[in-house]
Amino acid sequence: MARKLAAGNWKMNGDLALVDGLATLAGNQSTDAPQIVICPPHTLLAQAAKACENSAVEIGGQDCRAEAKGAYTGDIAASMIAETGATHVIVGHSERRDGHHETNPDIRAKAQAAWAAGLTAILCIGESEAEREGSDTLTIIADQLQASLPDNATAENTVIAYEPIWAIGTGKVPTLAQIIETHDMLRAELTARLGDEGAKITLLYGGSVKPTNAAEIFQAENVNGALVGGASLKPTDFQPIIDALAAS
Ligand code: PGA
Repeated sequence: MARKLAAGNWKMNGDLALVDGLATLAGNQSTDAPQIVICPPHTLLAQAAKACENSAVEIGGQDCRAEAKGAYTGDIAASMIAETGATHVIVGHSERRDGHHETNPDIRAKAQAAWAAGLTAILCIGESEAEREGSDTLTIIADQLQASLPDNATAENTVIAYEPIWAIGTGKVPTLAQIIETHDMLRAELTARLGDEGAKITLLYGGSVKPTNAAEIFQAENVNGALVGGASLKPTDFQPIIDALAAS
């Protein structure tokens, strides 16, 4: 059985005041809460990890460079993220794939760099609106998974987040039937490729998850949690999503 995870992606938002709120969020969790990972901007990683030390909330980066070190101005290595006390890193978010021209092989290399630094990679995949309107959505997503997920992925070192690009920050969400179809396909692909480990890898849905729709999305058997953008910026929005996941 895959582990449940509520992940928050602050993107280029947040400040020290929001980090202070994390300690409160951590303190509010019951012992049966799902795993919680918050991904603030890199400048806040160390403070966030300190605020959440020995708590129910873990911290992750939003991206890493595939190389271990070197002349890459503005970039950050996975080991640097790990050194802050973070445990996870998002790789292949569509805002990186689109805005920074990252390819599947780039993302594969980033996931391997994350593993080498002892981090769990939260690897994102998802189709564009035009691809969804075409007939081959499932094939496109399966190909993305195949090309960006390195071999020897395990349930320990990898989380997969399915995020339809057209649903991110738009308030548009696929139907439950579409979410079930995609996640069932992803589970089948992971199991075919990785056996028992593939059956245990946590599969997240992401894209306009809100307190109002979380419980419905979590009805899908192969949705083990969510990657939440906008609604992770307010504890009063994020907590009901955590609760809906715990109850699912
Ligand atoms: P959203 O973002 O929840 O604001 O749609 C999700 C994401 O990009 O991970």
